[in-house]
Parts: sequence; C-alpha cells; structure tokens
Amino acid sequence: MKQKISSFEPQPFEQAHIDTVRQLAPECMVLLKNDGTLPLSQVGPLALYGNGARQTLKGGSGSGDVNVRHFVSVEEGLENAGFQITTKKWLNSYEQLINKVQQDYSASLKKEARQKEIDPTFFLLGKKASEPEYNFPLDGAGDTAVYVLARSSGEGTDHKPQAGDINLTTTEIRDILNLNHKYKHFILVLNVGGLVDLSPVQEVQTVLLLGQLGTPTGDALADVLLGKSYPSGKLTMTWAPINSYPSTRGFGAADETNYREGIYVGYRYFDTVQTTVTYPFGFGLGFTSFQIHVDQISVNMDIISVDVSVHNSGAKPGKEVVQVYYSAPQGQLDKPYQELAAFAKTPELQGGQSTKLHLEYNLRQMASYDSQNNNWLLEKGKYLIRVGNSSQNTTIAGVVILDENIISEHDLQIKGTDYFSDWKPETNNMIPATSNLDCPTFTIKNINLNKKTATAVHTPAASTFHSVATWADLKQKRVTFEEFVSGLSDEELIQICLGAYKESHSQSALDVIGNASSQVAGAAGETTHALQHLGVPALVMADGPAGLRLSPQYSMTKNNAQSITTDSPVKADKKQPVYYQYCIAIPIGTDIAQSWNEQLAETCGNIVGQEMEIFGIDIWLAPALNIQRSPLCGRNFEYFSEDPYVSGIMAAAITQGVQKHPHKATTIKHFACNNQETNRFFSNSNVSVRALREIYLKGFEICIKKSQPHFLMTSYNLVNGEHSSNRRDLLTNVVRQEWGFQGVIMTDWLATGGTGEKSTKWPSASAAGDVKAGNDLTMPGTAADKENLVQALNNENHPYSLNRAYLQQSAQRVLAMIYQLTA
Ligand code: BGC
Repeated sequence: MKQKISSFEPQPFEQAHIDTVRQLAPECMVLLKNDGTLPLSQVGPLALYGNGARQTLKGGSGSGDVNVRHFVSVEEGLENAGFQITTKKWLNSYEQLINKVQQDYSASLKKEARQKEIDPTFFLLGKKASEPEYNFPLDGAGDTAVYVLARSSGEGTDHKPQAGDINLTTTEIRDILNLNHKYKHFILVLNVGGLVDLSPVQEVQTVLLLGQLGTPTGDALADVLLGKSYPSGKLTMTWAPINSYPSTRGFGAADETNYREGIYVGYRYFDTVQTTVTYPFGFGLGFTSFQIHVDQISVNMDIISVDVSVHNSGAKPGKEVVQVYYSAPQGQLDKPYQELAAFAKTPELQGGQSTKLHLEYNLRQMASYDSQNNNWLLEKGKYLIRVGNSSQNTTIAGVVILDENIISEHDLQIKGTDYFSDWKPETNNMIPATSNLDCPTFTIKNINLNKKTATAVHTPAASTFHSVATWADLKQKRVTFEEFVSGLSDEELIQICLGAYKESHSQSALDVIGNASSQVAGAAGETTHALQHLGVPALVMADGPAGLRLSPQYSMTKNNAQSITTDSPVKADKKQPVYYQYCIAIPIGTDIAQSWNEQLAETCGNIVGQEMEIFGIDIWLAPALNIQRSPLCGRNFEYFSEDPYVSGIMAAAITQGVQKHPHKATTIKHFACNNQETNRFFSNSNVSVRALREIYLKGFEICIKKSQPHFLMTSYNLVNGEHSSNRRDLLTNVVRQEWGFQGVIMTDWLATGGTGEKSTKWPSASAAGDVKAGNDLTMPGTAADKENLVQALNNENHPYSLNRAYLQQSAQRVLAMIYQLTA
C-alpha cells in the first residue's frame, strides 16, 4: 500500500534495506590482487588518501542516480568500524580544492549553456570537472595506508582515454607509488564504475575493486578490510589496455559507429587473438583459494550437464564461481575461442569445506547465427566444454561431437549493414587437437531439436466500432478490451500512445526529469490522464537502475505532488505539509553482475519492489542491459557485462525480484545498441545481423524468455540507419513474434526530438514510426509527437503512414497493462 510519509525521521524499511545491501555488497567487490595484506588483522591508525576517500561515489550520475538521505563514504565507514584516520589534513586540503574546482566548472558550463541558448539540465548531464593536479604531504601516521581512487561516470558523457578518467593523473601515480613504498601495508581501493588503466602503478600488490555499492558503500568496505566479510565478485568485463579493445578505434564518432569487430566483443576477442589482458573476464580473488574438480559431464538429449565439486583449500571462508564455456568448431561460420554457457556460485564454504554444483545448458545455446539464411546453426564437429573460474583459467572437461549440421531455429529477416564485413580472426589456432584429449566424449546423432520457425506478422486490422464504454464496463467484463478500444476516438487513441502529455504542459527538460508525474514527485513519467473521464487510471514510472529515483521531499497542491528542491528539510505547516521519499541506493548494475549471483540480483530487485509499493510506483525504468562493448561508454556502470548471457540472466533475476510484487513492473532498456553517449540521440550503430543476434539482442532475448518483464524501452540511437523505436523488424518481428514478449514497448525520453537537439545527418525518431513499429508509448509525449501522429493517420504520403488499426493495437496493449497493474 502506498504510504504518505510525513515524518523526516528514517523509516524502518530504510535500515532494513541498508542492512541487506551492506550484507550482499562484498559479493560484488572484486579482489584483483592481494599479497596477504588483506584482510587487516585489526583496527588502528590508518592513513587514508585519494579522491574517493571522503568524496566517495555511491553510484553514477544522471537518471541512474538515486536521491538518498545519506550514504556512507569510505572515511565514514572506516571511522564507524573504529579506525583512527590519521590524514584529516590531507582529506581537508583535497576537499577544499575539489569544491573550488567543481564550483568553477559548473559555473562555466552554465554560462556556456546560456550562451548557446540550450537547456542546462541536459547540457550538464554527466559532465565532470577534470581531476586536478596537487601536491599535499603524504604524512599520515600508522603503518597502513588505503588510497581510494574514484572515477565518476554518468549519462550523457562518455569516458576518455586520458588522465583523470581511464588513465591516472600525474599526481595519482606519484602519490600511489610513494605510499606503496612508504607504508608497510598499502591497499589501493577502486571506487569506480568501470575500467581504469593501472599499468603505471603495477607494483602495487593489493588492489580491491570496491565499485559503487550504493548507500552503505563505506561500511561494506570496512567489513571487507577487516575480514568480517570477504570479496567474492568476478569481473564481467575484460580489463585490458584501452587501445587493445577493437572497439576503441572509431569509438564515439558522432554520426556513424561501425561495430567492425562483429561478435568479437570482450573476451570473445581477447581469448581468440591471445592478447595479454590485465585481468580476464570472470576473474576475481578471495581471501582463500579453491579447487574445482569436474565429477561428471553428461549429455541427455539436448541438455549438457556439468557436475563439479568445489573445495575451499584455504583457511578462510569464501565463495567461488564456476564458469562453463564452450568452443564451437570452425566451419562455414568463424567462431570465437570460447563463449560462456553457464555459471554457478557456491554457498559460503569454510576453510577445508567442499560442495557440489550442478550446471546445465541447452545445446541450442551453442548455435551461431547464419545471417545468409536467417538460421541459428549448430555446425557439425567438436564442441569443447571448458570449466574454470575465469575465461583464462579453464580446462577442457568434455567434448560433444555433432555428426551433422543442425538448424535449431529459423528467424525473420532483420536489417543489417552493408558498410563493412565483420572482422574475423585470420586463423583460429587456439583449438587443440582433440584426438588425444583425456576427457569424456559424447556424439550426438540424429537429434530432433524441434526446430522453431518464426512466422511473419501481418499488419493489424481495425476492429469494428463499438459504442463508448467506461473502465468500469471493462472491469466488470461488460465489454472486452477490443470493444473498449474500438469505442475510443482517434484523439483518445493518440493520447494513450503518448505518455502523460498535456496541452498545457511547458515540457521543459526540468519538467521531464524532476517533476513529470503529478502523482509521485520526482517520478520520470506517467501514462496518460486524458481518459480520466472514462475512469482509466494512469501508471507512474520511476527511474533506476541503482534504486528508485524520486524527489526526497514534496508537497501536495490540489492533488498534485510537487518536488521541493532544497537540500535541507523544509518546515512543515498545516497549510502545506511536507512528505518524504528517501530511497535506498543499491549497487550499480555492473557491481550486481560481478556477484555472479542470481539470488543476490533478485534480492536487489526485491528491495526496489518493496520501495515501489511504499511510494506508489508502478513501473521501474530498469534494469539496463546494454552490452559493455567498450570501456569508454559513459553508461557502462548501469549495464551488466560484455557478455550477453550474464546480462540476460542478471536482468531476469532483477525482474523476478521486482515483479514478484503484485502489480509492479520492470522496464528492460535500452533496446538496442545504446553503446555510446556521444551524440546519443543521433548516433547510428552499424552492426551486422550476426552480431545483433548473438551479442546485442541476445541478453534481451534471454531476459524476456526467462522473466517476461512487463515493459521494454527502446534506445535513442539508430540501428543500421533507423531509430530503434521505429524498427518494426526488431520490435514486432523479433521481440514480440520470435521471443514472445507480452508487454508494452516505450521510447526513451524525448527520443522524438523533444530536447531540441538536431543532427545534420539523421532525423529524430518519429512518434508515428513508433506506433507503426510496435513501440506503443512515446515518452513522455510532446505536442510535436501528437502532431506527428495526427499527420500520419490515414496519410499515404507520410513516411510512417498509419491507419487506426495500428493505434488501436498499441492502445490496447497499454490499456491491458494498466488493467493488469491496477487490477
Ligand atoms: C535515459 C533513460 C531514463 C529516462 C527517463 C533518459 O534520459 O536514457 O534511461 O529511463 O531518461 O528518465
């Protein structure tokens, strides 16, 4: 039940959620190196340095940020745990400097926005002042030092391979190296949302990727430093020198980004070309060590099973992640060295303890996409099954031999690119001769995989007119959905496809971001209010993925929730009571995925689901599962992985955590290829059909089939020359027809040009094109969108000419969802 909280005092749910996040957070941290320094034996004097020590980041910026009451910085967390920080002077000096740098930067940006006459809200998104150079004495007492290196990321801006961003600044390198020499124990802690190049400080022997873990970040770090808990995360993206990623060349080009590397993204590339990486995909240490023993591999029809025993061979407790990869045979299609097929995490194992894990996957998962024939193809030959605990630490545990080519699925045609052919490895000499492999071999003969064949979708037909009905008629089953919709006017149908657009609304960027819902302050949007006369309720949408993004304080004026934008609590009086909505920040997407723990991801979804109930949110605009194609993408922190399987599984688990709350929905986003922020409204991702199918669409497919999220959000960018929200082949044919998506598809905010940004190369997405493609809701809806729909209706000359049937179809899907979520 929605609550109106009129007390500024923390609510019981807040502490409960913080405690849960603190407890699960260590599973998201990745211990990259440890010379035995960690865990520390006891609290005591501690020299704390670095830009993330006091100015710790709990997450990224932009719509993925969460307005919390308070979050625990590293300094605070270490003090809470009983450490005496001996570097207050250093921390104060840095604070003074960075405050000044940030004030000056934001003033100059605002000035620039005014000069360019653009809305500062969008202009400032994700922009950050450069990390300054300085020289403060490194003179903290004690024999232990912790250096916290922070890097912010945010919507609207990409990373750059430069100092203060992917690279370290001169000051950071100098200080880290000096501290490493000076102190007996030195720990480098990374408070980052993605890659940093640590090569200049390679000699540091203890490095912990803390990540950005939401509200209890500093407390969770203290728990791990002291060994009250232990890290058990593994990287979900390969860490390598930035110039060795094939995606770095040409990254962030304004108009056209060519995904020339094709399917060779992340470890699929690095493992194939045998390039040395800094830390491989799937890698992470703990405070103990593990031995993985494959007990049995078996093949039963189309299911491949791997049973393993995991033994904690060290003294301290820990958890291990077992990863199963396969190497498909080279044939008519080139194949990467290996691809992830399954993973499982052990429960906590004490030193000396063992457990057994069962992993399995379907043969179909090993198929590659033959884009000439639109088939998922399992080529005949030897499939090696590899088991290990990172992509670069696996052993071959079994061989599956297919004696003939098998087509597991025939799909519908989607638009690819003719600009280039995907990169292919010249030779793939990594697959060892299998004749002398000492492992079980299974030959699959004459298997009937029950080939699926997708059938084309027909254009919709308008239903015949029914008299006007009310929502109560529908609820009491006096009319069907079809009848209800057929009784609506064209104008009403258009309104339903447009979010909560109001003629009177000024629709400035601030409105859209901060106050787009009249029911919940700070929510990102709503479905239409235009059918109130018929009794149709409006659904409320709030952002994520690191929790619920709402305004912390609001007042109610004539049934309208108004955000209060001051930082301090406002004095309530009888005439104008103030209400509070403090939400808890959970770990960023990347860190949740680094746990490799589906249960943990579901728990995070459950926290959000509970807060949605408390604050009256129907639809959460998360999780986000774009592929981490390049470490330079500014929004990677919201995303899970370079691997589609990990991405899809994590998004499904979070969805299950949210949607187990009756009437609560997730929105998986941003579909698809939203892999850069530079010129994000108009950047065209040129991608082959094979890479689309195997990499960029795959995670969405897995998530939809496994968890049926109620909403899907399309992306701003174009895919092969057309905005994703306008692509009927992707939305209607693939998402709905092939994958069986039952929900509503919405655009990203103002994708249809509402920000006023223009491109010389590409038009904005079209609202009529949205409906025609099967993208039901254009969000948040503007006067121009309405006009675009009106113009397209029954107009054969419009590029996205529509008839009423398309509007009816989308409106019916939206209304059915409103019905389902409010029943
Ligand atoms: C972001 C989305 C977000 C939406 C609503 C857009 O700027 O790209 O991820 O859900 O705003 O706030």
